Order: sequence, then structure tokens, then C-alpha cells
Amino acid sequence: MGAMLLLSGTTGSMAVENQPDSLYLFSYTTPKDENKTGLHFAWSVDGKRWIRIGNEYAFVKSDYGAWGAGKRMYDPVLQRTRNGMWLCSFLVKNGGDVVGQTESRDLILWKPQDYMSVNAKTGPNRNVKRDQITFSDGERATGQIHRVERDVVNKLKAEYERKQYLNGLYAEQMKDDGARFANLKGVTMTVTADPSGKKAISPELFGVFFEDINYAADGGLYGELVQNRDFEYSEKELSHKPGWGHTYAWSTPNGGRLTIRQDNPIHKNNAFHAVFDTDGGTASLVNSCYDGIPVKKGNKYVFSLFGKVLAGDNTRVKVSLRTKTGKDIAAGVVSLSKTDWKRRTITITAIETAADAVLTLTPADKGSYAFDMVSLFPKNTFKGRENGLRADIAQAIADLKPRFVRFPGGCVAHGNGIENIYRWKNTVGPLEQRVGMRNIWGYRQSMGLGYYEYFTFCEDLGAEPLPVLAAGVPCQNSSIGGDGQQGGIPLGKEMDEYIQDVLDLIEWANGDKNTKWGKVRAEAGHPKPFNLKYIGIGNEDLISDVFKERFELIYKAVKEKHPEIEVIGTVGPFYEGSDYEYGWQFAGDLKVPIVDEHYYCSPGWFIHNPNFYDDYDRTKSKVYLGEYASHLPGRPNNMETALSIANYLTNVERNADVVKLSSYAPLMARKGNTQWTPDMMYFDNEKVNLTTDYYVQRMFGQNAGSAYIPATVSTNNPTEAVNLRVGQSIVIDEKSGDVIVKLTNLLPTEVKTKLSLGSLVSGTKKSKLEVLQGQPADRTATPVKSEISVSADTEYTMPAYSLSVIRISKK
Ligand code: AHR
Repeated sequence: MGAMLLLSGTTGSMAVENQPDSLYLFSYTTPKDENKTGLHFAWSVDGKRWIRIGNEYAFVKSDYGAWGAGKRMYDPVLQRTRNGMWLCSFLVKNGGDVVGQTESRDLILWKPQDYMSVNAKTGPNRNVKRDQITFSDGERATGQIHRVERDVVNKLKAEYERKQYLNGLYAEQMKDDGARFANLKGVTMTVTADPSGKKAISPELFGVFFEDINYAADGGLYGELVQNRDFEYSEKELSHKPGWGHTYAWSTPNGGRLTIRQDNPIHKNNAFHAVFDTDGGTASLVNSCYDGIPVKKGNKYVFSLFGKVLAGDNTRVKVSLRTKTGKDIAAGVVSLSKTDWKRRTITITAIETAADAVLTLTPADKGSYAFDMVSLFPKNTFKGRENGLRADIAQAIADLKPRFVRFPGGCVAHGNGIENIYRWKNTVGPLEQRVGMRNIWGYRQSMGLGYYEYFTFCEDLGAEPLPVLAAGVPCQNSSIGGDGQQGGIPLGKEMDEYIQDVLDLIEWANGDKNTKWGKVRAEAGHPKPFNLKYIGIGNEDLISDVFKERFELIYKAVKEKHPEIEVIGTVGPFYEGSDYEYGWQFAGDLKVPIVDEHYYCSPGWFIHNPNFYDDYDRTKSKVYLGEYASHLPGRPNNMETALSIANYLTNVERNADVVKLSSYAPLMARKGNTQWTPDMMYFDNEKVNLTTDYYVQRMFGQNAGSAYIPATVSTNNPTEAVNLRVGQSIVIDEKSGDVIVKLTNLLPTEVKTKLSLGSLVSGTKKSKLEVLQGQPADRTATPVKSEISVSADTEYTMPAYSLSVIRISKK
């Protein structure tokens, strides 16, 4: 808990009480929506007739606790200090003993909140005088009356009006384009490149955000086909999930008894194992995998397990992939040890194709058999790696041509409660020794896809690894651990150990194979260093005192020991507001090289903010736009979401001297196990469905540049709505020398584009053209490739609702 200035006694409004130009301001909350609607204001000239500002607009909301259950504000006390600051404290539970506190100079921008436990009976919010007012519609409210300068009220009203105006713009949707652009035709855009203004931009601008959300790791990218292979799923971890527990996904349909035991585990980190007792015959232990396994005739599968025979003479266990009709279409036999846990591996080949087979283990005779780490991988993993990745999903990621991969989240990185903070050391080393755990998204992560696999995947992709580690605080929306984010790893020994973990990661990734952690990496099969450049510390955290003191400790330790590493800080979950403002200030004070911005916004927001980065101070921290996506009501991926992002990305490219890295989020989801939409791709067991948002990312990723060419752009239509909906960006990929022109048209009509590329093109070049086009609600549009002749002056007609990429080869 950070230090807090507690409030008590009367509200401070003495200074303005006798000024002629003052008004009454009433601060209050309502019990509506379980007190989640935040702090409201009303004003009055005479203290009798009250007018609400913005009909209960929330000027600040509680940020305490989990979404749904938390974020409540009770009994707020607002007090003005002598230096003109407004302090607001409130209870986070009705009659509870945790007080939240924040402060503001103007009642509009509030500081990130801090929280502390107080005595529930005598706490500061108990003995403050409350006022009651009645609005002209008869509604009564309890709060505090303050006397303030008229300007205070005017600014609150203006802020509300501003927000209303912006909300109107941001709510614009393409479904209204018919009315918005009735009779629109004949739009021409002229783009005149200025090669002399060429500037360097980040060659690493486009990367991917990988989070173990939506079963993206286990049951997704991670090639393991067996679910709950280690019998570690536990009802204690996820009590709300029916049937969730050590036997989840396992069954004994043909007889036999399955028991879960803890005696003599294969490793202390792998506490549970299965014992299967059989009287022989066809009794088998079956794993349903992740909704079955699609088996293809001729495909090979690598099966392994730890096993031993506890009782019985026959050590042989048949391993098979069985169809729904009971036919074994791939099979082999392993022979177990009678004395000790031993690992056995065989490769089996499918002799038939089946949509959803299951894995069966059938002991050859009666007896008692212990099993653990029962595993099945397709032989054909991405790049053929052992413990590898599902090839088609990994390939879809590779096709994006990501320059970096961020992992393991998102919220997975900071976790649901302190105990759930993702610890990289739990995810390396032999699989049976890794420490799996519940996932903030409501399932279990085996850590089979751990740091070693993330790093080697990056290597296979030619992408920079970008691990994000918690800043010593869990997610501010945690539902576990009482105070959620408002707790942090205790300072002292525990925090020191945590900081050491961060330093050890750098040694593990980059250290010589003779260093303590470099040796661990080398033993895993990678003697050469990984050349880690970036480390993210924190994930869209509340910029509370608890966060700040921990971040600073980690940051300074990394800077001191590894000045070569670029630390990426965090500035909260939104593009504005308290965490964003104070996060930037904090990063500036510490001179953090890069900060991670997140914003999930409407298409209207992306359309109406083309200049978001134009005024960013180039001398301050650079930006990693680490999570963003365009969200429509119902959260689909369609041409509207895709084009709003494409148009925005042309502006990001223009600003890629300040935006170094960017990644759309989340990357993917398993159909039927999706906690968050939209995602860039959706997969089931058989295929990966690519969305329109994916195609935009691929078109930008495959056509990134290292230099930006400014251009003068004009249209023959003076309307702002039209001009906001056409975009362009010209970059040069200096390695190949190719010039790449990206053009966006978010209008319902085609747009003739006059391209003047000057010295960028000599002669006439047969060039590549790729166009993604479709009506706004179209979810299935795919890009079409063709050729186009380009010279210094070229006319190109952008189809309605389209992204076009023209790649002009140097040769
Ligand atoms: O991308 C999904 C989630 O959105 C991430 O886990 C979190 O960082 C953000 O709130």
C-alpha cells in the first residue's frame, strides 16, 4: 500500500465561500448499477435547485478489484486542500474497511488510485458530514455540498460536452455511410511524394502479441494433443468449472479403475499421477484430447509417457488412436518398468483418416499401472522441433512476417493475484519439472510452451523475443488475493528475489553457456545466446504507488546490470486518462526507453485519430503499441474493423520514428474456448481461419519498410468525413530497395488516386498489387494479388472499402 493522505472532518471550500462568482457543487454517488457508476457532480446557484452535470456522468470511478464484482464506490469524501488539489477518498465496499484515494487539480484528471485498510467503524469516511439534496425530478441524493469558483463548474460542464462530442464521433459506423455519404462520387486523391524528406522508421514496427488466452497455447499453438497430460488439473484451482479436476479429459469407457495418487511422484513439481487398475481385456484409459484428434492417414505421431507397473506381470501397454466406432487407426506398444518411473517413447503411424480420434492406453493384461506425462505430438511440428508447435498455426503466424513476438501476455504475465504472477523459471527445463498453474483466463497452462519454446519460435521466425514480466504487481482487476493489484510482492526479500529472477532471465537468454543460467539454456539444447534485446516490465498496470516503487526497483536493477537491454514500461490500458498521463510522466522521470500503450477502440476512434502520434515528443520514451484492436458492438472481425485499423496504420507508419513496435491483440482463439473477441485468427483442430484483421496485419507485416517518404496529400472534396477516410503511406524497404505504397479507402465509392512518386521510380515498373476489398460487414473478404504498371506518375483507382498495397521492386 502506498502512503495516503487520509481525509476527515469538513469539506474544504472556505476559500471561495464569499466570492460573488461562486457556485455550489454537489459531489455524490448513486446506488445504481451496484455503485459502479463512479463520482458524479451537480451544481446550483442557490443550493436549492440542482442541475446534474451530464446526467450522472462519472468523473472518476473506483478502480479497485475485479470487473463485475469490484470497481464500486461508496461514501466518497471530497476535500480541497490549501494548495488547490481535490482529494477524494471512498470505500470500495459498502461498510467495508478498504479506502481508495485519489486526487485531482481540476476534478477531471485523477491520479491513479491507492488503497489502504482502515478501521471500518472509525475510518475517515465515517465522520464526515453528508448533505442531502433533491433534484427537480424528485430524485434524492446524498453527498457533499462544496462552494467553488464558477470556473470549476464550467470546466466540468465543458469536459462533459467534449466527451459527448467525441463519443458521437467515435460511435460512427459504416452502416450509416449510405446516409453520411449520399450522392458522394468522383473523389480524387492526389499524393505527391517528397523523397527528399525521407526519414528512418523502425524496421521492427510489426510484430505479434502472443498470449495464452482463448486456449492459444495448450490446445492451440503448442503441439501437444493430450489434454491434462500430467493429471494436474485441479478443482481447487478452478472450482467454478464443472468436472474440472485431476481426471479431466480422462475416462475408462471399457472398464478398469482410474485413481489419482500423490505417492512417489515423478517430480515434486508434478504432484499427481494416475493409477489404472485393470482386470485385463479391453479395459483402457482414454484421453479425449482437445475435442478429439483429427488423424490423417500416413501421418506420424510421437507418443511418450512416464510409466511403471505397480502390480501384474505383463509390462506391455498398447497405445492407440481410436475412432468413434472403436477402430484403432494408429497403434504401438510400450513396455513399462516394474521398478521405477521410466520414460517411454514410440512413434505411431495412422493407417486411416478420422475426424476425431481419441488416445487410448490398454494394458495387455490385468494389473495396476501408473502413468504420468502422457503425451502425443504430431511428428510434423513447425520446423520439426521436439515438444514443438502446431505447424499450421505457427505458419499462419510466420506468414505475418513478425519482427518480434511478445509473450506470454497480456494479463497472463501479471496474473490474477500475486501467486498467479507468471514466473519464467517455472517454464523452462524438463517438461515434467515445469510448474503449471491456473490461468487468469480460467483454465490451466501446462507451461509445456514455456520460455525456451517461445525463444526458439522467435528464432525460427527471425523475430525478436519480447518477454513481458510483471512489475511485481498482479493484474489490477484480480479477483484473487483480496486487494488485487493493490497488493504487490512484499518489498524486501521476496521482491529482491523477484528482481533477481528478472536479471536471471537476461543471463539465461544472453549469458555464456558457462554462466549459471546460460548453462540451463545450453542444457536445454541452445548453447548459443538468444540475443535478447527487449524486456517488458508490467502490463497495463494501474500506475499506483505500489506499482511505481516495484517498477523502479526492477528497472534500475536491469539498467545497472544490463544497460544493453531496452526496458519497455507500461502506461495503463487506455489511450488517455490517469494511468496514461501519470504513466507517461513516470516513464519520463525514469527515462524508460519505450512504453507499452494499449487501446481497444471503436472504428470511429481509429478514423478520428489520424494524428494521435504526430505531436508525440520525439525526445521522450518511444512507443510500443502493444495491444490494440478495433471493436464494434458484438465484437466481430469484418471489413469495417480491418479497414479502420489499416487506415490508422498508415498514420502509425508515418510516426514509426516514435512508434517502434506494434502488435494487434489478441492474436488467436480456439473456437469454443474463446474468452475474448475479436482475435486475429480462429482455429479448430483441423484448420486456422484467418480474419480480415489478420489480412491487414499480413499486408502491413509483409510490406514493412525502414524509411518513410512523406507526401503531400489532397482530395477534391473538402469534407472532413471524406478526408479522414482515405489514407496513404509510402515506405522503402532498404534491404530490397523496394518502394511500397499503401492506400486505404474507407468510403462507399471508389477513389481515383493520382500518385506522383518522383525520383522513387524510374521508368515503368511492373509491380505487385495486393487488394483487400469488401463491404463493411463482410467477414470473409480475402486479399487478391495482381500486377500493375507503375511509373513516376501513375493513376490508380482504389475500390470502395479497400486496402491496396503496391510494391514497386527496385529491379
Ligand atoms: O488482449 C487481451 C487482454 O487485453 C490482455 O490480456 C490484457 O493485457 C488486455 O486487457
